[in-house]
Amino acid sequence: MKQSDETWWRHGVFYQIYPRSFQDTNADGVGDIAGIINRLPYLEALGVDAIGLSPIFPSPMADFGYDIADYTGVDPLFGTMEDFDALAGAAHAAGLKVILDLVPNHTSDQHPWFVESRSSRDNPKRDWYIWREPGADGGPPNNWLSEFGGGAWEYDATTRQYYYHAFLAQQPDLNWRNPEVRRAIYDIMRFWLRKGVDGFRVDVIWHLIKDAEFRDNPTNPNFLEGRRPHQKILPLYTTDQPEVHDVIAEMRRVIDEFGSRVLIGEIYLPLERLVAYYGKDLSGAHLPFNFVLLSAPWHARSIEKVIADYESLLPVGAWPNWVLGNHDRPRVASRVGRDQTRVAAMLLLTLRGTPTLYYGDEIGMHQVAIAPEQVRDPFEKNVPGVGVGRDGCRTPMQWDATTHAGFSTATPWLPLAGDFLHENVVNHEADARSILNLYKALIRLRKKLPQLVSGSYVPIAAQGDVLLYRRESEGAAVVIALNLGAEPVSIVSDAAGLSGEILLSTFLDREGEKIEGTLDLRGNEGAIISG
Ligand code: GLC
Repeated sequence: MKQSDETWWRHGVFYQIYPRSFQDTNADGVGDIAGIINRLPYLEALGVDAIGLSPIFPSPMADFGYDIADYTGVDPLFGTMEDFDALAGAAHAAGLKVILDLVPNHTSDQHPWFVESRSSRDNPKRDWYIWREPGADGGPPNNWLSEFGGGAWEYDATTRQYYYHAFLAQQPDLNWRNPEVRRAIYDIMRFWLRKGVDGFRVDVIWHLIKDAEFRDNPTNPNFLEGRRPHQKILPLYTTDQPEVHDVIAEMRRVIDEFGSRVLIGEIYLPLERLVAYYGKDLSGAHLPFNFVLLSAPWHARSIEKVIADYESLLPVGAWPNWVLGNHDRPRVASRVGRDQTRVAAMLLLTLRGTPTLYYGDEIGMHQVAIAPEQVRDPFEKNVPGVGVGRDGCRTPMQWDATTHAGFSTATPWLPLAGDFLHENVVNHEADARSILNLYKALIRLRKKLPQLVSGSYVPIAAQGDVLLYRRESEGAAVVIALNLGAEPVSIVSDAAGLSGEILLSTFLDREGEKIEGTLDLRGNEGAIISG
């Protein structure tokens, strides 16, 4: 049963689609909106409640849609506005919410706003972007660096000033200190909300405001050669500025004009700073994306600690969330290793908080090696060889064993994983014990057992590779036991309060088994046990 109450985003399971790579229907090798519509039955069967789409707006695609030239249109590569309306209608009819990617920090340099802004110093849109005089030596105004390599200031010969870009030079940053910019973006939000969009994932929301005095960032004493070059300096004055929370509170008010919508923030910050994005009195994002699992060492004690830290830092009333994959970070199957992918799935879907899945992770898709001549990601092109490339987690969805994996009839824009003949949706559907069927079983169980959704999180002391916790609500409890190691383990039931039966094992072969005395887990096994 689908949740339709005000706080659906607390109960639901979110699924991120990278539209370029999900399903192509017009044989150009790039996924499109019609393809997503065709695959809605798959998403329904998987059991997710909301789909989040990476940008579908008109864009020169310098950063694959994160460089937007028109915020209220649809790029022809993905289809038309009619296609989008059809998707929203069909998704809603199927009980699925639709979340769009809002990219307010920067536009494309082709956006009419920037074309105007750069045309002259006294253009009315000049102050919509961040223009500065050259520094004393005629060079950039300060030492700020672009996340994608090199300096963050681009010289404009026509007007003899520099503009700031936190990412590519083709992605000039908007000036969020300008109220006109704010109003323009809020109206864009309203445009989509009126169309029935259920919320936004706001791109790099912690970047929106920069230091008013444009002070130099301090150097990073811990920088190691071979790391991302922008980490040479600490982003003290470029991100996470106190005033950003006023902006987010304004965005939240726009969301609240419509009711039952969700505001999600993309934020890479340590947990203690991340939780500030819930806002004062929860006036900020409903869900500041919690990315800790994307980088936490995969050891029981480290994972236990990040969960405890997060739980203890959450403001009163704030709703947690967990993310296992996205289009910017290596695939979970490659991060934790193939054998642990099922354990990771069980973790994601049994922790307290809204889970976000990344397309393809449900069939265990791994990071695909991309040959130098096949690189498409501008980040990798700018900063080659240090492992920043994001193409490997953006490869086409593996639907079946036909040519191009059923993704397209044409050569896909990125290569397919070499194992798609075996690792594909059709095969996984046919195999009762596949990881896809594990995901389905986990999602079904969440819908059946309220304690998995709204129950408290109670850690249980464990040792070695075992991660153990209870989810408890109104007297009903389940225990989750995860073996993050490859060796079998035996857990003494009394100590862990284990007395019931196995509801689900990650191998899908022990349901109904009674626990007496000890719970024995195989290597790389996780289990949910009735309390
Ligand atoms: C976000 C997006 C990423 C993009 C960047 C610049 O981090 O997730 O894909 O490159 O913003 O817009």
